[in-house]
Amino acid sequence: MHPMLNIAVKAARNASLIITRASQDIGALTVRSKTYNDYVSEVDHAAEAAIIDTLREAYPTHAFLGEEGGVQGEDQENLWIIDPLDGTTNFLHGFPQYCVSIALQQRGKITQAVVYDPNRNDLFTATRGRGAFLNDRRIRVTNRIRLQESIIGTGFPFRDFAHLDAYMAMLKDMIKKTSGIRRPGSAALDLAYVAAGWFDGFWEIGLSKWDIAAGGLLVHEAGGLVGDFEGNESWLETGNIVAANPKVFEQMLQTLRPHLTDALKSPA
Ligand code: IPD
Ligand code: CA
Ligand code: CA
Repeated sequence: MHPMLNIAVKAARNASLIITRASQDIGALTVRSKTYNDYVSEVDHAAEAAIIDTLREAYPTHAFLGEEGGVQGEDQENLWIIDPLDGTTNFLHGFPQYCVSIALQQRGKITQAVVYDPNRNDLFTATRGRGAFLNDRRIRVTNRIRLQESIIGTGFPFRDFAHLDAYMAMLKDMIKKTSGIRRPGSAALDLAYVAAGWFDGFWEIGLSKWDIAAGGLLVHEAGGLVGDFEGNESWLETGNIVAANPKVFEQMLQTLRPHLTDALKSPA
């Protein structure tokens, strides 16, 4: 395993110890609402601190972008992008679908990725150019050819309803044109599932960098395609993301196309 990936795995495991301990007594947690329907607990903060401590010990000069703490450090070349607990709403309800997501961005490219699910002990990892793995076994996207036979993951809008009408129109078409839609509630794991071939594809509107940086590399390294709703590169910036095996990717773009408002198209 690449040494930088190794440190990221150590950081993810340290965070998951905190998360798993806290999951045994959710009622005792202090929960705060960041904005409407957007909750954060002391676990999110403690897990993020544990990740940054572990990474900083190994790489004192690197910069960090964490969901809870924002940007720390000025290194433009090495930025760790961290979601300490992806799926907080699930976690706070005891619904066992959440993970830790850590990515390293170097000179604009994501080069290392870890997504760790403490409930299933699933460790998804990737290093750019070296493939994607689940617990040390190589993973690949599916080779399903038809969208009609595919299972597609998604995320519903839940705090910002600006695109709700467009989303509902997309969902309606996807329900008709696929074998089934799933909304598990952790975007980082959804992307890992595309990489592992458990989903044929995934789409969601308006995610944040920490939700998708690691998962995007997993899909890419598993032989899948990742793009914005027009198939272009802006997905990490806009958070409008489609990820799938190459055949299904094209059919997903075609299905989404009629529902794209200007705000959902690739930036000029
Ligand atoms: C959320 C999850 C969810 C997705 C949301 C994300 P959080 O992350 O990934 O699946 O639908 O858009 O914000 O807030 O639990 O880290
Ligand atoms: Ca998240
Ligand atoms: Ca989070």
